[in-house]
Amino acid sequence: MAEVVIVGSEAEAGEIVADSIQELVAQHPDAVLGLATGSTPLSVYRALAERVRSGRADLSAVRGFALDEYVGIAPGSPQSYRTVIETEVVGPLGLDPARVQVPNGTLETIRAAGADYERAIVAAGGIDVQILGIGTDGHIGFNEPGSSFASLTRVKTLTEQTRRDNARFFDSPDDVPVHCITQGLGTILRARHLVLLAFGAGKADAIAAAIEGPLSASNPASAIQLHPHATVVLDEAAAAALSDRDYYRYAWANKPEWQGL
Ligand code: GLP
Repeated sequence: MAEVVIVGSEAEAGEIVADSIQELVAQHPDAVLGLATGSTPLSVYRALAERVRSGRADLSAVRGFALDEYVGIAPGSPQSYRTVIETEVVGPLGLDPARVQVPNGTLETIRAAGADYERAIVAAGGIDVQILGIGTDGHIGFNEPGSSFASLTRVKTLTEQTRRDNARFFDSPDDVPVHCITQGLGTILRARHLVLLAFGAGKADAIAAAIEGPLSASNPASAIQLHPHATVVLDEAAAAALSDRDYYRYAWANKPEWQGL
């Protein structure tokens, strides 16, 4: 099962995950990170940016693959995930933009874009750590309910709920694209370490279903139960609907020193 870590704050979560990434990069300067967008991973990016600023970490050789992108959105528009990754991750973490890829949502090349992205990930030697958030309907990346556990990077149709959830980033809800291109659940499961973060009461049901519910394509995040090395970092509110909270706390309190995240 996933290791569930319940922390006091988003900032604490960011530090714990940043520690593990810093350690990885110290050993492998060109490590491959899977980068999620959304508000959830920001604490991790902030913690890493602070380490880069203070000279404790150097991420300039790190390679990155974003999880997903909207289809048909202008690459330079503020809502495109390419722009978000550049402003929230590449810049603050001092990554080399040439080493960071985002699925290509351009309409003209969309038919080949999924297979191209899969090839690029394989050519990079696979993803070392995949950072994940979770949607209120249990999606990871943009793998909406019903996504195959074997799915690879491809075009998906966003649910109305996801479009509503993401409307806050657009001028009008109608501007949210209907289609996206996302790493598949199969792509995500190939990463060597999954780190799923969630904060706030709005994520509590999706988290409980993902970690303690049955494996089901109806709940895409439940796919992480299939992964041999998955870490789930939650605040108290996001952990509130889990039945085995006491055990997770006990296991974390007794975690062997040598083990790492
Ligand atoms: C979007 C992204 C997901 C993200 C989810 C949750 O749909 N494609 O990768 O996990 O939003 O977003 P937030 O972290 O802002 O709650």
